[in-house]
Parts: sequence; C-alpha cells; structure tokens
Amino acid sequence: VVITAIYEGDRLVGFAKVTRDLTEQRAAEIKREEQERLLSERYAELQRALEAKSRFLSTISHEVRTPMAGVIGLTEILSKQDLGRENNETILAIFESSKRLLQMLNNVLDSAKLESGKLILELRRFPVRSVLGDVRQIIARDACAKGLKVTGRCEDCLPEYVYGDESRIRQVLLNLAVNAVKFTQNGWIDISAFLRGQTEAETTIRFVVTDTGVGIPEEMHPVIFQPFEQATPSALCVHGGTGLGLSICTELVKLMHGEIGVISQAGSGSTFWFEVPFIKDSQRI
Ligand SMILES: Nc1ncnc2c1ncn2[C@@H]1O[C@H](COP(=O)(O)OP(=O)(O)OP(=O)(O)O)[C@@H](O)[C@H]1O
Ligand SMILES: [Mg+2]
Repeated sequence: VVITAIYEGDRLVGFAKVTRDLTEQRAAEIKREEQERLLSERYAELQRALEAKSRFLSTISHEVRTPMAGVIGLTEILSKQDLGRENNETILAIFESSKRLLQMLNNVLDSAKLESGKLILELRRFPVRSVLGDVRQIIARDACAKGLKVTGRCEDCLPEYVYGDESRIRQVLLNLAVNAVKFTQNGWIDISAFLRGQTEAETTIRFVVTDTGVGIPEEMHPVIFQPFEQATPSALCVHGGTGLGLSICTELVKLMHGEIGVISQAGSGSTFWFEVPFIKDSQRI
C-alpha cells in the first residue's frame, strides 16, 4: 500500500491510499541482487587465483634461483681451468646456458612481482651517465663476437646525478640493449641519453637504443610489448627467450611514471626509447 499526495494545480487537496502489486518489481530486485552477489564472488575468486599464481611463480623462481646461482658459480670456476679443449667448450656451453636460464627465471620472478604489485622502487641518488657506460660494457663481448660496433653518447646538458631507481633503469636499458644484439646480424648498436625536459623539481631523460638489425613490422609494434609475444613465431626458435623482456620494461617504466616506445620497420633496424622523470638532485629531501 502506497500513500499518494493529490494536487489541484500547486494546491495540496488531500491524500489517497493506493494498492499496487509490487511482486514483479520485487522479483526483479531480488534477481539483480543475486547477480551482483554472484559477480562479486566470481571477482573475489579470480583475485584469489591470480594471487595464488603469482605466489606460486615467485616461490618457484626464487627456489630455483638459489641452486642455479651455485651451478653458474662452479661452472665459471671450472671454465677457467685447463681441462682440454673439448671439455672447456662443453663447460663454457653449460655456463652460457645456465646464465640464460637464470635470466629467464629472473624475468618470470619480476613479471610475477609486477603483476601482484609487490615490486617496489628503491630511490637513490645515482650517476646517470655511468649506467649507460656499464650497459655498453656488459653487451660489448656478445656484440664483438658478432662483429657489431657499440657506440653512444650522453647529451652534455644531462645532470651528473639524479634521484631515482638506478637498478631498474639499468634493467630496462640492458633488456633493450640485449635485444638489439640478439636481433642484429651486422652493423652497430648505439646506446645514448638525451635531456627531454625540465621543471623546477624534475629532469626527464630519454634513453635510446638503436640498432641496424632485422627491424619490426609496424603492425607488430603494440604486440611486442605484451607478455610472451614475439614479432615472428620463428624468433622463439632462432633466438630463444621468453618474450617477457619488453613487457617487464613496459611495466617498470610505467611504475617510474615514464613512457616507452619503438620506431622501426621490417628490415631497417629499430630504435627503442624510454623516458623517465627523475627528481632533481637539488630537490632531494
Ligand atoms: N631490437 C629488436 N629488433 C628486432 N626485433 C625486436 C627487437 N627487440 C624486440 N624485438 C621483437 O620483440 C619481441 C619481444 O621482445 P622481448 O624482449 O619481450 O622478448 P624476447 O627477447 O624474445 O625474449 P626475452 O626478452 O624474454 O629473452 C622479440 O621476440 C622480437 O621479435
Ligand atoms: Mg628480450
């Protein structure tokens, strides 16, 4: 029963008792409430499953990384002894394979941490130019073995020191540089940094890795930044890898409030870049 006010024009002239059949309306409400309950249950289930998956991946990767570090350390020691050419070659192959395996595990671990939001940035004052030098040095041996030249520069106006997460900047730059070596057969690789913008409190730096390698067709540009995606299905057979590198870079750059992108065409090399705003050294508390 509903009480309704009766008006003549603007004037209230009385009240009336109206009886309405609300059965259908109530049934619709009950149905909607039931659907909402089911939806929130499914969502909670999904969240639990995602968390369990991330936990599982990080536990496995963590547990496997410890013995892997042992294998790598011992094979490195063995590889420095004179055990005959054939044995030394075998040991070197074991050493290289275990390093690749550890790199894959690190990727899986980072991916799981990023997915569960457990990756926390560590902000410190660091010399930004030396990160580029270190990365050039790290890839130099593999690049040299393929006959590739490694070049690069840092724009003069870059600050000496900035305040940010040095190890994550190094990780993203190294990932791009390792890809450049992997997908380039001849020519050069350039690793440079430029000043992109400044405010009173922040300096934005653009890091650029350019190569003269196989290049990437334009329609694949958005795809390669997704987890487990590779530009060509043959990339996996020829070069190995998990296809996680660029997706981790994307998430890390996002976490640092930056941007990442690529300029490339099939057959004419690639330029991968990312930009990150850093707190100016003078602004540090
Ligand atoms: N410099 C490059 N030149 C040509 N193709 C590239 C380059 N960098 C990335 N790609 C393409 O993008 C794909 C995704 O790169 P990503 O780094 O995510 O995976 P990956 O290198 O194949 O494996 P992982 O990094 O896990 O070892 C590569 O498989 C390749 O097809
Ligand atoms: Mg890669």
